[in-house]
Amino acid sequence: MAFESSSDAARKSPPCALVIFGASGDLTQRKLIPAIERLARRGRLPREFALVGVARSHMSDEDFAQRCRDSARRAGGETSASWTEITDHIRYVCGGYDDPGTYDKLADVLHEADSTRGTAGNRVYYLATPPTVFAPAVIGLAKGGLNVGAEPDSFARVVIEKPFGHDEESAKELYTHISAAFDESDIFRIDHYLGKDTVQNLLALRFANSIFEPIWNRTWVDSAQITVSETLGVEGRGGFYETAGAMRDIVQNHVLQVLSLFLMEPPTSFHPEAIRDEKVKLLRAIRIPRGEKIRRDAVRGQYTRGGTRGNLMAGYREEPDVDPLSKTETYAALRLDIDNWRWSDVPIYVRTGKRLPKRMTKVTLQFRRPPHLPLFPKEIKDMAPDSLVLHVQPEEGISLRFGAKVPGHTFQVRTASMDFSYGTGFPEKSPEAYERLILDSTIGDPTLFIRADEVGRSWRIVDPITEYWATDEDAPIPFYPAASWGPREAGELIERDGRSWLE
Ligand code: BG6
Repeated sequence: MAFESSSDAARKSPPCALVIFGASGDLTQRKLIPAIERLARRGRLPREFALVGVARSHMSDEDFAQRCRDSARRAGGETSASWTEITDHIRYVCGGYDDPGTYDKLADVLHEADSTRGTAGNRVYYLATPPTVFAPAVIGLAKGGLNVGAEPDSFARVVIEKPFGHDEESAKELYTHISAAFDESDIFRIDHYLGKDTVQNLLALRFANSIFEPIWNRTWVDSAQITVSETLGVEGRGGFYETAGAMRDIVQNHVLQVLSLFLMEPPTSFHPEAIRDEKVKLLRAIRIPRGEKIRRDAVRGQYTRGGTRGNLMAGYREEPDVDPLSKTETYAALRLDIDNWRWSDVPIYVRTGKRLPKRMTKVTLQFRRPPHLPLFPKEIKDMAPDSLVLHVQPEEGISLRFGAKVPGHTFQVRTASMDFSYGTGFPEKSPEAYERLILDSTIGDPTLFIRADEVGRSWRIVDPITEYWATDEDAPIPFYPAASWGPREAGELIERDGRSWLE
């Protein structure tokens, strides 16, 4: 279990073969291979480990090995004995995902790995492919008899990248295919935000301390905010992004996952199911936006050309593979409401967007103003409400903002900040999200992976909004210039409630 292991050194993968589908793709080369190299270098992978790539591109084992070496090097990896051992024995299977021959070849390669590498019949299949391939790959594995471990007491797990479907309906359909081949306990749905140390720190902050939880409720909290802002545009992924948009790409998964950890009830233990039960209870308590609430509480936006003269950025509609009349949102701002005793009447404001001025993910609780102020308004004019900010990235830390007396002979109060930074607070470096998640999938720890019921519930929250935007001709699509903080309407959404986005 992710949070119960007493010894960090004990977290080591058992013997297994890790099979990456989509081995020639961008995610594999940019994130997965560098993560595997780091796991190898840090002694987290046993000698009995095999790496196998599957993809449609023609490549020899050696070509694939060379690609992996190059990817790891580009990401700052080093040549360690264990990484060399892995790349020297790496295997590559070329084939279509719906071709039974691919799975026959894969079966032979895995068989060989069991006898020459000692992988003990254990397999982890990582689907780093476009979502259209998830179902054919799982069906192919099942037909080839590869969906079960190859030896007594061995395991076969499947790791799936988001998006899990396109809406609730398609997620159910995907689930039908996958669950016909694998048990829910062997399905590991990745949301890489859960692999970030600072997101996991939410649990430490709330449940390893006694001072925060008593004020973590509607009595003390005025509102909460989650911001996931990116400076990047769609980076050559226009085709994919046209089918997704900010709601499906970020809100349905990353935002709702972080929000559920931030606002859920305390779990009875750190057992994976205890945590996931509380997360899904919170998701179920989020009011499903309907009718007028959608028009009032959901704002989308799309970036247009912008930036500075030296750094002029194309508008979304000018990006490759994007419809020049596209209505896809590259920005979304929402007000969510939670119908439970803890959070009733505490609005949750969420915003995310591409081509914003700063890369930043943070979660903030804003506290209520004191019930009585023995001060005059002008003495507190520079004072913002107290708040607690969890900085997820790029800075990693926690800030507590409160009023403090300005030095001098008058009694002025201004906002001061008490800041904890991970960089200076701990000598240890956080592992990369994928490093943590790949290791957990080989160990079989599902805590940081998304359960089927969480997926369904998250779609139910998001679907009415995306459907309204897609089908109502009158639904506005406000524009914002690249490198600005999003459309004016997003500011109005929160200012209407007498609040503002916290910078
Ligand atoms: C991915 C999205 O899930 O997360 C991308 O598909 C986005 O569009 C990325 O850029 C952001 O991840 P991070 O870790 O850089 O915040």
